[in-house]
Amino acid sequence: MKIKNLEFKKFITASKIEEKVAELAARINLDYKNQSPVFLPILNGSFMFAADLMKEIKIPSKISFVKISSYSGTSSTGQLKTLIGHDESLFNQNIIIVEDIVDSGLTLENIISELRSLGTKSVEAISLLRKSGARVKNIDVKYVGFELDSEFVVGYGLDYEGYGRNNKDIYKMIETDRI
Ligand code: IMP
Repeated sequence: MKIKNLEFKKFITASKIEEKVAELAARINLDYKNQSPVFLPILNGSFMFAADLMKEIKIPSKISFVKISSYSGTSSTGQLKTLIGHDESLFNQNIIIVEDIVDSGLTLENIISELRSLGTKSVEAISLLRKSGARVKNIDVKYVGFELDSEFVVGYGLDYEGYGRNNKDIYKMIETDRI
């Protein structure tokens, strides 16, 4: 598959994703049995993951999509904005941040500290994908779907310059410029 100047090949199939999402949801259903969590998916990347995840969540819960952006092209810019769009009062709530991918972990760390400052009861995170940088930095993500090295991926909500989000499989970039 080609997006703009980059080539991608299939990496994680839709059926593997489906299995993983069910497994993660089952863990949350158990862990949050009597806690009515508020899910906060971070737009745009997590829209597909969040939709599939929520279909498997069987406990009472709320969902509120939020937005933040720190990324352009294929590497993190480190430029962070604040959380926008939450329509629920998050005070004293058990929050589960829903991310598509954690790369450097900078975005997530900032979201977590902002949410803590709002007087939330607990803050945890679920991410479909986590790259090695975040693992090394020990970024606390309670629920992780797939561990990656440093591959740049698109599909299932993830984009390259805005394109590729609509694919139901996840693709990884073929690094043609490296020997
Ligand atoms: P972090 O702050 O470095 O952890 O970056 C997290 C955000 O960068 C994610 O929510 C994505 O929007 C974006 N991102 C990181 N890696 C990728 C990738 O491989 N493909 C597409 N977007 C990515």
